[in-house]
Amino acid sequence: MYQKPSMKFSFLNRQILRRLYLVALVILATLIAIWCEQVQTHKSMTLTTPDQPEEVRREPIQPIPLKIALNQSKVALGEKLFREPRLSADNRVSCLSCHNLSKGGADDKAFSIGANGAVGNVNALTVYNAGFNSRLNWNGKFETLEALTEVAIQNPTDMGIDWQVLIQKLQQAPEYMQAFTQNYADGVTKANVKDAIATYLRSLYTPNSRFDQYLGGNQKAITDAEKEGYRLFKAYGCVSCHQGMNLGGNLYQKIGLMGDYFRDRALRGSLWEHRGNVTKADLGRYNVTQDEADKFVFRVPSLRNVALTYPYFHDGSVETLEEAIKVMTKYQLGRSLSQKDIELIALFLGTLTGEHPALNQK
Ligand code: HEC
Ligand code: HEC
Repeated sequence: MYQKPSMKFSFLNRQILRRLYLVALVILATLIAIWCEQVQTHKSMTLTTPDQPEEVRREPIQPIPLKIALNQSKVALGEKLFREPRLSADNRVSCLSCHNLSKGGADDKAFSIGANGAVGNVNALTVYNAGFNSRLNWNGKFETLEALTEVAIQNPTDMGIDWQVLIQKLQQAPEYMQAFTQNYADGVTKANVKDAIATYLRSLYTPNSRFDQYLGGNQKAITDAEKEGYRLFKAYGCVSCHQGMNLGGNLYQKIGLMGDYFRDRALRGSLWEHRGNVTKADLGRYNVTQDEADKFVFRVPSLRNVALTYPYFHDGSVETLEEAIKVMTKYQLGRSLSQKDIELIALFLGTLTGEHPALNQK
């Protein structure tokens, strides 16, 4: 009679204790789980060998979308215009002449030849994936494909034709009159020509490169040597300038941060016709802004399909990818890499060749 309440009391007490014990266990387990998660996150952020898909998702380079929705009828009209020599002053040059779609979207000359034989002053850029660049041309002068097309049509070293003459030519061609009225209520106009060409340019994207497959989680899409090349590309800091979906196209940088690129250009060989003399085009972004600080500053070019877009640099002075990597390490990073590392980086850059029906896959 006397003990009963106390026995009851201690029984209750033990039950509370057991509950507390269980709660403590649950809290401890949660803490351990959080700690493990943190260690794992920390590890995957600092490890450089990409083995886990989680890590791949945190890469400084993003894959190109597999499909982009575009008005296919305008794309077809834009393609017809892109391939049309009548778009030039002498009816001999088309956009395709310099932007050969089966040769990486550019040509293999240092300086292309436009209408009436006019020679350009910078190396032709590729049209593939240009739609992803926030700035266009070597000096970043244009922000939209429409604005660039407007000038490419008139530019004496491109198509060299007066817009009015071009519009008249197209209005006199029944097949164009028909195609334009099919796509645009107001038929053949300057704005519509620009729109059709720009729409076509946006269709020139090259998804599904082996590197993008790897970014998507397919570890087997690239070899161990190519993975090592990618690791070096990040470790040496190439990725600080060549990053984003296009590995470039969105930043400005001076060529020759760590050395006199132009003084040494003359010594690199005879391919370069100006033999070391600095030209107006070499002034880069300065030609757009007139700001002293912009002398020799260029838009960092995209490295997508770079294995196909030789020769390299704004002056087209370098023929091979390995040589271009050497120039970069010397003048942008102030280092000299072993031949082995250069080869590995070149192997990695080779995995950036994507797919497009017109692009010749090697
Ligand atoms: C004579 C050769 C030539 C012709 C013809 C030509 N281009 Fe170009 N294209 C170039 C060169 C050279 C550049 C680089 C110009 C610069 O950076 O100043 C360029 C740059 C471009 C770019 C910019 C790519 C980028 O990432 O910034 C696009 C887009 C382009 N051209 C589209 C066209 C279109 C469309 C036509 C036809 C209307 C055309 N081009 C005709 C030589 C040519
Ligand atoms: C500080 C910024 C910066 C760094 C770092 C950098 N680049 Fe560049 N890269 C540029 C610029 C700017 C150009 C264009 C220069 C020119 O044409 O005059 C360029 C051009 C290139 C080209 C030629 C592309 C073409 O189409 O002509 C290749 C290839 C290249 N870089 C690879 C690399 C590699 C590999 C590394 C690392 C070893 C690297 N870059 C580091 C800014 C950089």
